[in-house]
Amino acid sequence: MTDKPGAPATLRNREPILEVLRIEMANCQSVLEIGSGTGQHAVFFGRELPWLSWQTSDRLENHDGINAWIAEASLPNVRRPLDLDVELVDSVPGEYCGVFSANTAHIMSFDAVICMFQLVGNALSADGLFCLYGPFNLNNDFTSESNRQFDASLKTRDPRMGIRDLAEIRVLASENDLVTEKTYAMPANNMLIVWKKTSTKRVKK
Ligand SMILES: C[S@@+](CC[C@H](N)C(=O)[O-])C[C@H]1O[C@@H](n2cnc3c(N)ncnc32)[C@H](O)[C@@H]1O
Repeated sequence: MTDKPGAPATLRNREPILEVLRIEMANCQSVLEIGSGTGQHAVFFGRELPWLSWQTSDRLENHDGINAWIAEASLPNVRRPLDLDVELVDSVPGEYCGVFSANTAHIMSFDAVICMFQLVGNALSADGLFCLYGPFNLNNDFTSESNRQFDASLKTRDPRMGIRDLAEIRVLASENDLVTEKTYAMPANNMLIVWKKTSTKRVKK
């Protein structure tokens, strides 16, 4: 059995995110999570929001850890991960009324973020919601000194990483028929943005 990985930030951000998802996903049945990471969010939200079927996904390297959390939680509504690299796959089987992703847009390259929005557009049913959590810039500027330092540390790791400007993210959303519904200010200079899919259009890479 794989040891369960732990990301301390998930313990800090999961309650505030839960309060948003409880509202936004109240009428949803099925959620696709992109970049499930450790799997900690999936089992926490799956337990707290039991009406949702929660489909985890990530690149293969994270599957053992996600599966370890899912096995321990033994929840009927949290599904084992799809092998999903947004740069390699532009659609997933089935349709979802919700897509959730946390802390991915600044880790992926901008090209991968473009791919993620295409995939989200293809995965959502009409009127489905995309909830994206993480740090974002506003008007091409950091919203805090800590975000500026975080961005610098990301770019040291990999120059393709970095905090995205909300305006450029909104362009990608619009190209995939996603309209901004709400912007929630979250603790620690993060945001949770909610978009609604306005069509049944599918985009191919
Ligand atoms: C900082 S972690 C966030 C994990 C988790 N969502 C959380 O908030 O704790 C970033 C995640 O993005 C995933 N990721 C990075 N590039 C990706 C890609 N091209 N396709 C899918 N997932 C990707 C990583 O594998 C990782 O799980």
